[in-house]
Amino acid sequence: MEKEFLKITAIEKIYDGGSINETVAIDHITCSLSKGEFAVLVGGNGAGKSTFLNLISGSVKPTQGAISLDNQSLVEMPEFLRSRFIARVKQNPNDGIVTSMTVAENLALAKFRGCRAGFQQGVKKDQRVEFSELLAPLGLGLEKRLDVQIGLLSGGQKQAIAMVMAILAKPKLLLLDEHTAALDQKMSKKILEITEAIVRQSGLTTIMITHNINDAICYGDKLIILNNGKIVSEKNGKIKKALRVLEVLEKFN
Ligand SMILES: Nc1ncnc2c1ncn2[C@@H]1O[C@H](COP(=O)(O)OP(=O)(O)OP(=O)(O)O)[C@@H](O)[C@H]1O
Ligand SMILES: [Mg+2]
Repeated sequence: MEKEFLKITAIEKIYDGGSINETVAIDHITCSLSKGEFAVLVGGNGAGKSTFLNLISGSVKPTQGAISLDNQSLVEMPEFLRSRFIARVKQNPNDGIVTSMTVAENLALAKFRGCRAGFQQGVKKDQRVEFSELLAPLGLGLEKRLDVQIGLLSGGQKQAIAMVMAILAKPKLLLLDEHTAALDQKMSKKILEITEAIVRQSGLTTIMITHNINDAICYGDKLIILNNGKIVSEKNGKIKKALRVLEVLEKFN
């Protein structure tokens, strides 16, 4: 169903179950996102935000519950198969790129993610044109730097390219885990604007974690607040009430 494009049912994650370190990181969360919906996930440190995204991407296995995307069950599917249609951008700009390769080579790798036969040494001319056209609207001059080793670029430049890489393989779902947290305020704003433009243009279903309350207000269609592994508030639209809950939560953190 379109309305339940991503459907999460009573998902639970207990780390180190049965030991003295037992932690209930995600406590029976049920929620859904409709196709094209852009949800922003907030909560204090240790609330379970990253675990929640890791359960969806498959890098963490749930102790209970079900996840389906576009009517396909994910729980039994290994992470490498999910990565064909679930894209991620994380906090560390060096995550998800090959620092010793050029910008164009990284983009080519992303384009052919999951298809073994796709990537070849050297990037073809028509691909370079495509990559330039994707990078130019970002307004960072990256279209002129296709042959630069990506590891030499700044964190913000890498995150901008990471956003383009994320959508190149036409994923069904985009997961952003504090992807602007390592950037200064100005670059963070720029990457969020790029994020918004890319998400809206592609109509991509997206979950974005942020620690910044202002960003949570400005971006997305839905705000989800997590505390102690539970959703304590889920609001659509511009969400004054949810922000009040957030203020309360912050006092406890
Ligand atoms: N691999 C792990 N092994 C054991 N416990 C873990 C593991 N990963 C996370 N936890 C615990 O699960 C809880 C949720 O952690 P998680 O990283 O999901 O929180 P978060 O909301 O992303 O926090 P932050 O804002 O600090 O990134 C925490 O109590 C954390 O200590
Ligand atoms: Mg986290």
